[in-house]
Amino acid sequence: DGTRILIKGGTVVNAHRAEEADVYIEDGVVVAVRPNIPVGDDNVRVIDATGKYVMPGGIDPHTHLAMEFMGTVTIDDFFSGHAAALAGGTTMHIDFVIPVGGNLTAGLESYRQKAAKAAMDYGFHMAITKWNDEVAREMEVMVKEHGINSFKFFMAYKGSLMVTDDLLLQGLQKCKSLGALAMVHAENGDAVAEGQKRMFDLGITGPEGHALSRPPILEGEATARAIRLAKFINTPLYVVHVMSIDAMEEIAKAKREGQRVIGEPVVSGLVLDDSLLWDPDFTIASKYVMSPPIREAGHGKALQAALSSGILQLVGTDHCTFNSTQKAFGSDDFRKIPNGVNGLEERMHIIWDSMVETGKISVTDYVRVTSTECAKIFNIYPRKGAILEGSDADIIILNPERSFVMGAHTHHSRSNTNVYEGRKGKGLVEVTISRGRVVWEDDILNIAPGSGRYVRMPPFGYVFDGIEKSDAAYRASLRAPVQRRVVAA
Ligand code: URP
Ligand code: ZN
Ligand code: ZN
Ligand code: ZN
Repeated sequence: DGTRILIKGGTVVNAHRAEEADVYIEDGVVVAVRPNIPVGDDNVRVIDATGKYVMPGGIDPHTHLAMEFMGTVTIDDFFSGHAAALAGGTTMHIDFVIPVGGNLTAGLESYRQKAAKAAMDYGFHMAITKWNDEVAREMEVMVKEHGINSFKFFMAYKGSLMVTDDLLLQGLQKCKSLGALAMVHAENGDAVAEGQKRMFDLGITGPEGHALSRPPILEGEATARAIRLAKFINTPLYVVHVMSIDAMEEIAKAKREGQRVIGEPVVSGLVLDDSLLWDPDFTIASKYVMSPPIREAGHGKALQAALSSGILQLVGTDHCTFNSTQKAFGSDDFRKIPNGVNGLEERMHIIWDSMVETGKISVTDYVRVTSTECAKIFNIYPRKGAILEGSDADIIILNPERSFVMGAHTHHSRSNTNVYEGRKGKGLVEVTISRGRVVWEDDILNIAPGSGRYVRMPPFGYVFDGIEKSDAAYRASLRAPVQRRVVAA
């Protein structure tokens, strides 16, 4: 392609430091990062970033584009979702492949087709919903041949995606042997079904029933259970969408005891509260229905504090968008409201405004929780998640002086609603560069379907370092079997 770009005069922020420097990009790759890089010739596009932050594009570890779920399909696909992401400063995401009839290969094939229109880089996690020898074999093929290094187990959604403890144990063991990261959706699905029945018996059938039927204790219980099972197997665990103090405290406790547990809060859980589910307008209340539910005020603040202090490590969105017509499938029964909220376009702005602008995290930590940590965990750092020589040129320029206003009239998602409708804040992503191409500038997107690349994620990243040694130490601690004489009675 030959595009050459020089970003001059900004503050370049990486997770390890912020510095005044220029960034020179050629052929989609960062070639130089240092002060006062001279403009070589007329064919170099110069972008003035004076007074602005030049940062790695966001990486969203948790999205569901074009996913078949709860009788419908999420409204953002791999093109509209990418439009939304790029307009909001996110340049890569990792989506969850759902197996087809329990078959992993068929699931991957279907997601490859969905992703043919990708406009930015993406990777895949894979959900495991059934267990047999074939699934175990396919997991190995996914890791060794297809660049997937993480598998998600749903402890909720009884009757569809939910796994038993037996399956979770088999899966944890298999993940460990492959050097792949096990991820859990931690809610007790059996208890949720019971809670839903309880709400119906009480005559509560609207969106508030969704929150009431699956309270924080059910998230805390499943989080604790998954953490203990991962400890029993001695393999790292990644808890997706941590929505409650209950779940966060289980993660904090496990970390204090030295266990490798990664906690991912999502934007909705950090900044929204469940009062919205009581809105008398169904269209409004139902758009906030996601699982685990958005919690009472107080949980979000606690989750933000946990993120600031390192108890939780990186921020996702769980972008899983349905429009008001789809949400209305559950107008007389909250159990039929498709679960999921938007966030792919909003994440970078909301985290900047609510956490950097308020002094809760530094600019370097902002880069860490929105980009670098994800790249490290999924073993694609420093190609992604950094502005270093040789990194992919996935870069954003954020102007801290400008403000944003969010809403369905201006967003790039295909949904006709937005859970951040009317939200205002400071800090605006003015420019997004995706592998060396300026794709977002002056409020205009310039993207092409098919230009996004699949990013392969190799197994055995830093989260696995030393696991073999700790296994050996465990075995040594058991010492030799005791020799016993059996005397007949
Ligand atoms: O409500 C949600 N979270 N929908 C997406 C599926 C999941 O559980 O991640
Ligand atoms: Zn070239
Ligand atoms: Zn989930
Ligand atoms: Zn999800």
